[in-house]
Amino acid sequence: MAFPEGFLQELKMRNDITEVVSPYVNLKRRGRNMVGLCPFHGEKTPSFNIYTENGSFYCFGCGVGGDVISFIMKIENLDYVDAVKFLAQRAGMELPENSYDDSMSKLRKRIYEANREAARFYYKTLYQPLGKEGLDYLHGRMLSDRTIRHFGLGFADDDWSSLTTHLKSLGFSENELVSANLAVQRRSGNGVYDRFTNRVMFPIIDLRGNVIAFGGRIMTDQKPKYLNTSDTPVFKKSENLFSLNNAKNAGSRTLMLCEGYMDVIAVTQAGFKNAVATLGTALTTEQAMLIKRYADEVIICYDADEAGQKATARAIPILRNAGLLVRVLTIPNGKDPDEFIKSQGADGPEAFKAIIDRSGNDVDYRLQKLKADFNLDVSDGKVGYLEAASRIIASIQSPIEQDVYASKLCKEFQIDKNAFKAQLQKLNKSRYREDYRKQQQKIRADLSGRGDRVDTDKAKVPRSSSAEEALVVYLINNPDSAERISGEISAEQFQNSLMRRYYEYFLFRIKDGKDALNSVSADFTSDEVNKIYGMLRKYASVAQTKKSLEEYIKVIREESAKPKHDEVGKMSGEELNDYLRKLREAKK
Ligand code: GTP
Ligand code: MN
Repeated sequence: MAFPEGFLQELKMRNDITEVVSPYVNLKRRGRNMVGLCPFHGEKTPSFNIYTENGSFYCFGCGVGGDVISFIMKIENLDYVDAVKFLAQRAGMELPENSYDDSMSKLRKRIYEANREAARFYYKTLYQPLGKEGLDYLHGRMLSDRTIRHFGLGFADDDWSSLTTHLKSLGFSENELVSANLAVQRRSGNGVYDRFTNRVMFPIIDLRGNVIAFGGRIMTDQKPKYLNTSDTPVFKKSENLFSLNNAKNAGSRTLMLCEGYMDVIAVTQAGFKNAVATLGTALTTEQAMLIKRYADEVIICYDADEAGQKATARAIPILRNAGLLVRVLTIPNGKDPDEFIKSQGADGPEAFKAIIDRSGNDVDYRLQKLKADFNLDVSDGKVGYLEAASRIIASIQSPIEQDVYASKLCKEFQIDKNAFKAQLQKLNKSRYREDYRKQQQKIRADLSGRGDRVDTDKAKVPRSSSAEEALVVYLINNPDSAERISGEISAEQFQNSLMRRYYEYFLFRIKDGKDALNSVSADFTSDEVNKIYGMLRKYASVAQTKKSLEEYIKVIREESAKPKHDEVGKMSGEELNDYLRKLREAKK
């Protein structure tokens, strides 16, 4: 089941891609097209392009591309049907009834509803006698009732069926509860039991206000301390942040990135409403790009312990690469933000403000950390430190920024700035060499198809792959020639399995009288869609003539006549002769 073609065409016409993308990307006109900084990867010079003539987009930096539907799928984290619904609503269009398979979309809706009811139930339990233990725990951690309500905290009691029974009475099926990861299937296969028991509960809410998951903390020293919802159809922990729904409305372009739920809550209660946390895993690029949509600067507020410092070192380049400014909070006495604020009693908020104001940026932080590795009282130690420090400074992209730190350091150690600059220049040169080498490596990998996640055959059969790729693009751009091409080349002659799938798919659609590309976001994975738009871009400036078509056909025939290497080895004399004859014929 799919959406009717006419509906999709109208949907795209009524959702101009430039207008749809504008709220997410600052676009500038360049000729007929629009360009901007890619929202899917961090970059400083724009390589994200919108092609108004055919309603598509492509980023030359990260290779993400597609039509207006794929854009919404990627940026809003929606599946195909929900992205279509999103755009239909935007354009004030009615959805055609029963024409599409929205079982997944319906399940997701049920999961949101079940989660919302669960959050309500947990919250209510907290204020019943049954929940006293949980409420005492939260009060013991200095949370006010106002804060508890603001975050919708709750309590899962120690009966293994409280929530399940309640949600079933509201009409949710066991299947829905298991899909939501609110309940777990019994091993015997008979029935389900509550996923969370005897824990205080932290609902995780997405940017549209849906409850998408929970974290639950045990109130003793037992393990695991936190239990989180596993990935479900509505939740992927690597793509969400706790409390971003609150923080994005704090009216600040700075976000405070914490390690845990309790830190975010304590920091918020202290009056800093722009705090978020990762969900028990290391910060990902997806999360950094998500932050970038709402902030220009991040203050890392990780724990002062070793694990927290390691996580800080890992988070810095990820945030930087997303184009964010980074500052690092240093919390005294090995505490986390929550413990620190609490330790200051009534002065908590003010004391926390003071360490925020004192927090240096990431380079200051790294230079400071580095000092611990050297004995600065002796000359050897100083030299060692300055050399290591110069490497950190040389890794900064902006020359002005480099100069600022160089000056600071020279002043601090009373050394000659020219000498230090000479050292930096040496390092800068080798860094450029390194960058250049990496760039070349990437280009080579791209050309050879190595490292291509979707097109895994390209490296094995490069010659046929290029011809097949070109033929697929030709077909898309010249639907009139579909009959002729299919008369000359059959799908079986394709050596590259991805190209074969594209070929079959586009031929079928065109022969069926449909626009080739109209429905690719429904019929291919996100990576496969990127690949198609990348291919189209590659040939956008190369004229594909009738003569080039002949060439593609010739190459595909030649390559398909060749047996695989291992087959030649096993051939009998007769088979080999037959093979050589075929090869000669193909060349004619
Ligand atoms: P409190 O002890 O309640 O103050 O929590 P914390 O925020 O100080 O926790 P900690 O620094 O130990 O962990 C930070 C975050 O990592 C938590 O908020 C959880 O998201 C996650 N986390 C911690 N312990 C566990 C665990 O045992 N299992 C899982 N899945 N996640 C955990
Ligand atoms: Mn803590």
